[in-house]
Amino acid sequence: MVETRPLTATFGVEYLDVKLRADMADDTFADVERLWYDNGIALFRGQTFTETDIIGFCRRLGDLEIHVRQEYLDPDFPELLQVSNKMEAGREVGILKDKELGWHHDQSYMTEPAIGSMLCAFQLPAWGGDTHFANLADAYEALPETVKVRLDGLRALHSYEYFNGTWSVPTNENQANRTPPVLQPVVRTHPITGRKSIYVDPAMVPLIDGLSEDESRDLLDELFDWIVRPEFVYRHQWQPGDAILWDNASTMHRRDAFDPASIRLMKRTTIRPRPELAVPF
Ligand SMILES: [Fe+2]
Repeated sequence: MVETRPLTATFGVEYLDVKLRADMADDTFADVERLWYDNGIALFRGQTFTETDIIGFCRRLGDLEIHVRQEYLDPDFPELLQVSNKMEAGREVGILKDKELGWHHDQSYMTEPAIGSMLCAFQLPAWGGDTHFANLADAYEALPETVKVRLDGLRALHSYEYFNGTWSVPTNENQANRTPPVLQPVVRTHPITGRKSIYVDPAMVPLIDGLSEDESRDLLDELFDWIVRPEFVYRHQWQPGDAILWDNASTMHRRDAFDPASIRLMKRTTIRPRPELAVPF
């Protein structure tokens, strides 16, 4: 049995004495995977990871997506998206630079969004860059019954360009064609645990389908205020050698700005769900 400690009173787990390796023992891997799904986010601390081990481990959780932003992929390992402000030969090697990044789910703009992401800290800045996670399964459960009834059956629009307009840079034409806006259920049932979660966020979601503009805005604002209440949020201060695996079906995340004079280099995998469970329901 893997030794752990909780990250908060309600969600998140840290594994103690687990080395992030492609050849992790099967029984250890089974514990790690189950505890991750049960806890929404999972921290591996003090790792001396290699790209090969990160990719090999994550492949055991699901097929890996090659991210549509190919200009920011690790040139030797396209399964890794570089999230960084680092420049090499006058070129930005990573996405999302050094500014604040608003609350979002990874890839909710895809018809079959990633179930998981794992972010690994290769180089950290002098200050800032904390990542905050919100537990949207608990946030759903704590909603008043009347609101749950109101959300039942609703769908919301998720748009990568909406996200990019505020927090990132536009895609090129080919990338835009591959990422048109999609409708997703406002309440998503987790494909593994069966728990329901709120599946909207301020960065990706401009509107709820089928409601008037005012009704949609009011309901989204009400939900966006609710899901960032402190009791649903864990704030992670990164240490070198940290890796965090998060569940995109039951959590969302945001990032603080960081010291623009230092380099922050993170590498992220994007983990696909099993095909039969890939479309959110
Ligand atoms: Fe993200």
